[in-house]
Amino acid sequence: MARKVILDVDPGIDDAVALCMALSDPRLEVLAVTAVGGNCSPAQATRNVQAIIEELDPPRWPRLGAASAPDDGLPVDGRHLCGVDGLGGADFDVAELHHLHPSEKVICDQVRAAGEGAVTIITLGPLTNIARAFQRDPELPSLVGQVVMMGGSVTGSGNITPAAEFNIYCDPRCARAVFRSHSTKTLIPLDVTNRIVLSYDLLGRLPDQSTKVGRFLRKLLPPAFRNYRQQFGLEGIHVHDTVALTAVTHPELFTTEEMAGDVETSGELTTGMTIFDRRRVPAWRHNMEVAVDMRADQVIDAILRSLTGVGSG
Ligand code: BDR
Ligand code: CA
Repeated sequence: MARKVILDVDPGIDDAVALCMALSDPRLEVLAVTAVGGNCSPAQATRNVQAIIEELDPPRWPRLGAASAPDDGLPVDGRHLCGVDGLGGADFDVAELHHLHPSEKVICDQVRAAGEGAVTIITLGPLTNIARAFQRDPELPSLVGQVVMMGGSVTGSGNITPAAEFNIYCDPRCARAVFRSHSTKTLIPLDVTNRIVLSYDLLGRLPDQSTKVGRFLRKLLPPAFRNYRQQFGLEGIHVHDTVALTAVTHPELFTTEEMAGDVETSGELTTGMTIFDRRRVPAWRHNMEVAVDMRADQVIDAILRSLTGVGSG
């Protein structure tokens, strides 16, 4: 039976690619796609979610949720890698801008409707919506089956500041609330996702232009390769969010450890840093599974198989 999931996304090129994979994966039933500000503003993220679903037009449309502003505003955005519109300037049309419920309400409704333990929430952006959903419905953390989060860093450095990973840095207070919540959590941190680099030859292997997916990926991916070369001198792209999605579809490819993690919310140099108590005798209680290793070649294979073989409609 397909696993029921909610994807919480800030599209974002790698978010959009992960969505593309998720919507065509028979292992997943995508109940809802909820927007959150991060790579772009909340309004743009909401528009992008609608545009992506319209472009891909899956057989069963998921419920969509609208992003709202985080309490402290967004300290950064992802335009250096994803362009001003978050999608590399793809300029997808949105046929009709629907009036959407707020993301946190959609999350609460879907988790309640599916029943205890039935839903996995996959977060590919800042944790604003999840913290708000948990605040709105205090029983929710125990009703969610699992929260799988792309974010943070255990041993390595950050990617938006020397100490902080982008998703956590965007809303550290909400990230802390989710880390401290009584939910079953798995973190896929930067240490692991940074090990995957997709090379340029992917572009030659995409589905044909005559397919929706082929057209979609051909608009999204070339700007990503260009930006990674300009920003980092890299002849390839990181696709953090697709790695987190693969941890849900192919958990056997990942090694996890139980850890005790928290988030720094106010350090002058360290705001948004994730901290793990890895002392010989830790004083903090374990509160999540953290991916520490993966079979990188097989993860790349799984991502490529999904992207080059997806939907022909
Ligand atoms: C995360 O930050 C965003 O820019 C990406 O979409 C990904 O979710 C990586 O740090
Ligand atoms: Ca993201």
